[in-house]
Amino acid sequence: MIIGILKESGTEKRVAILPGEVTVLKKMGIEVLVELNAGERAFATDKAYQAAGALTVERKEVISRAAMLLSVNPPMEDDINSFREGQVLCSVLNPVENNKWLEKARHQGLTVLALDLVPRTTRAQSMDILSSMATVSGYKAVLDAASLLPKFFPMFMSAAGTIKPSRVLILGAGVAGLQAIAIARKLGAIVEVFDVRSAVKEEVKSLGGKFIEVEGSKEDAAAGGYAVEQTEEFKKKQQELIQQRAIAADVVIATARIPGKRAPVLLLKETVNAMKPGSVIIDLAASSGGNCELTENGKKIIVNGVNIIGKSDYPSDMPTDASKMYGCNIINLLKIMVDKDGNLALNMQDDIINGTTAVHGKEYISQRIRQMLNIK
Ligand code: NAI
Repeated sequence: MIIGILKESGTEKRVAILPGEVTVLKKMGIEVLVELNAGERAFATDKAYQAAGALTVERKEVISRAAMLLSVNPPMEDDINSFREGQVLCSVLNPVENNKWLEKARHQGLTVLALDLVPRTTRAQSMDILSSMATVSGYKAVLDAASLLPKFFPMFMSAAGTIKPSRVLILGAGVAGLQAIAIARKLGAIVEVFDVRSAVKEEVKSLGGKFIEVEGSKEDAAAGGYAVEQTEEFKKKQQELIQQRAIAADVVIATARIPGKRAPVLLLKETVNAMKPGSVIIDLAASSGGNCELTENGKKIIVNGVNIIGKSDYPSDMPTDASKMYGCNIINLLKIMVDKDGNLALNMQDDIINGTTAVHGKEYISQRIRQMLNIK
């Protein structure tokens, strides 16, 4: 099989496969075509791809020759016409946002593998791109907050007196939140944490964070480990407690999300108004509406001296390691999708392949896609 690596558009700096992973694909019996300059923003030159055994060619040639096309974001809607029936596209999809794109791809007979649909199971852990990217986001969000904050994170006892440690409030202890707790603790901050899933309490504690419990949260075993929408009574109680803790905090890292839905609003305008001037809110849920009522996606705003950064694309700011993790996850997925000669062999009975395939043979396949898009 020939795999094609597409250059990303817009401000995206990552690339789906770096030269190091081209070597692994070649060993699997796969030929690799890379669009010219695809890796330049992740510091991977065409020469490095060639040295790893790939051919670097024009986009047109990649699209016309490759059986499978890899990218970080789905190719532009205008590109879809240039793909042929049976061709496989593999990227992160955001199916709810890109539902029209997906319908067009289905209509055209393309196979779309959505990397954000890889099931969150133990067997699929090494293919979990969402976890990899959330790790980058949690790390970078804390570093961004620390550099913006007009204070130290750790406690200092110096000849000039004692400096108190900063207080960091983490909303949502999923992969990004847990990474943020670990980094904030390493930098010496006091960390407090909210989540609606009781399962994370022990993990938060083991990382040195304090878990703040709000009684009455709703959990659903059928949600596959994800959070679900909470009752109005719970939301009110939680908002009040968060307000108390946010007023005492110097930094808030907000990561709470509910798959396929608007992110829960946890920080109200009145809470921001009561926060200390100079404090920093990093809202990683910005692209799904934000955990803070005032967040503007992709923007940094200042309200009453409080910095609010609405940013969900931190992985693009760390393109080398983010691309490396992305590529390794894809290779682990490909290992269950190709035969010993490097040809594609999609077994729809496999729960990972079935769960990741958004459309194939003009049908919607993944059960989660069908639920998200209300397809009977
Ligand atoms: P996510 O990005 O969907 O959400 C982030 C966090 O926000 C979650 O911990 C969620 O419980 C929390 N949250 C949602 N609503 C909230 C609210 N109203 N207030 C406070 N917190 C709220 O989560 P992520 O990181 O994608 O992880 C989701 C689940 O998948 C977790 O159970 C995680 O352990 C599991 N997982 C399993 C993997 C595997 O087995 N392969 C790999 C990675 C994650």
